[in-house]
Amino acid sequence: MSYVVDRVWTGRHESNQRSSNYYNNSLRILIMDKGVLTDSVGKKPVLRVLEGKRQSVPPVWMMRQAGRYLPEYREMRARAGGFLDLCFNPGLAADVTLQPIRRFGFDAAILFSDILVIPLALGRKLWFAEGEGPRLEPLADPAAVMALGAEPDQEVLAPIYETVRRVKAELPKEVTFIGFCGAPWTVATYMVAGRGTPDQAPAKDLAARAPEAFGHLVECLVNASVEYLVRQLDAGVEVVQIFDTWAGSLPPDEFECWCVQPTKVLVAKLRARKLGVKVIGFPRGAGRNIPHYVEETSVDAVSLESEIDRNFARDAIQSRVPVQGNVDPKILLAGGEALDGEVDAVLEAFGNGPHIFNLSHGILPQTPIAHVERMLKRVRG
Ligand code: CP3
Repeated sequence: MSYVVDRVWTGRHESNQRSSNYYNNSLRILIMDKGVLTDSVGKKPVLRVLEGKRQSVPPVWMMRQAGRYLPEYREMRARAGGFLDLCFNPGLAADVTLQPIRRFGFDAAILFSDILVIPLALGRKLWFAEGEGPRLEPLADPAAVMALGAEPDQEVLAPIYETVRRVKAELPKEVTFIGFCGAPWTVATYMVAGRGTPDQAPAKDLAARAPEAFGHLVECLVNASVEYLVRQLDAGVEVVQIFDTWAGSLPPDEFECWCVQPTKVLVAKLRARKLGVKVIGFPRGAGRNIPHYVEETSVDAVSLESEIDRNFARDAIQSRVPVQGNVDPKILLAGGEALDGEVDAVLEAFGNGPHIFNLSHGILPQTPIAHVERMLKRVRG
């Protein structure tokens, strides 16, 4: 068995088709032996795609599918009070997670939570100012950064695992349950600046001024995220996605240092604890660096932004791993023939390989529900 484990770690980097088939088969046997994946892959289209199997009708879900474009979400949100009250109320958060599944029959449910609960569990203050997005107490002093610990307070996160258990109990059997975390770089940009920034300048400045302190912050986030994902998987999610919203904002050396390598360590540590877990990477804006990101991090699939050249994505990325995406949310908002054209372009680009139909980023709150229905009808025929 230890030989098989060796193959798990090395097989990814071999381009030889035979050895990668061997790797996949060995891994599958190992997974069955250990009972890591309890659900039958055969029944779930998203899991089948993540195994590299093309589906004639691609499975569909949408980033931010539980959100403000849904009247039932707005109603629940008003009942909860604030966004974080909703995230930390397992009854309501489970219901919100399931809302888009009930309404649209998506092929995947994504846990309703946020990437910024990790800074909160690391002892940072977090709040959502109405209409302004997230706020944290900024963390730009290197000495304060060095004082940060990597152990998230699991009591803070416990309600989220309870949400996972409740969703899992109610999820239709063909629907895949996706958990997530933010990538260390993206979460660090919010922690350092204390808010979203257009150019991530405060984090870039800290990384240049005090690389040791910034490295410590990133390492804390890697370790906290591993713990967080392991517990989500223990509670019932089947796949995890790593959101690196600001991956595209770094020049090549920094991209390597703060995006690729930390994600590689995160994935390796996660796989050491959860053998066979499927990981979707979302290095938004990384464009032509995505093949390198895939090779290095060994993610199982990548979610694509709409700015990427789709021919390049098919030839240089989908040839290696399944892809997810990539309808532009602005075109979903526009609807009509523009939307039909966008859906067709996505299906034409990625339809001949393993593909999960999705947006290139979160659905915009003003999006009419009829546009989502139109998109689904076109994808599913
Ligand atoms: O996709 C889903 O439905 C799952 C839940 C989810 C949320 N945020 C819920 C949310 C996920 C996966 C996230 C990820 C997230 N959160 C990212 C990475 C992906 C991305 O969008 O770039 C980031 C950067 C965050 C941080 C964050 N949370 C921001 C910048 C904002 C404000 C933007 C906005 O839309 O208002 C949030 C709030 C947030 N997270 C909302 C939701 C549904 C809106 C909350 C509300 O006011 O009701």
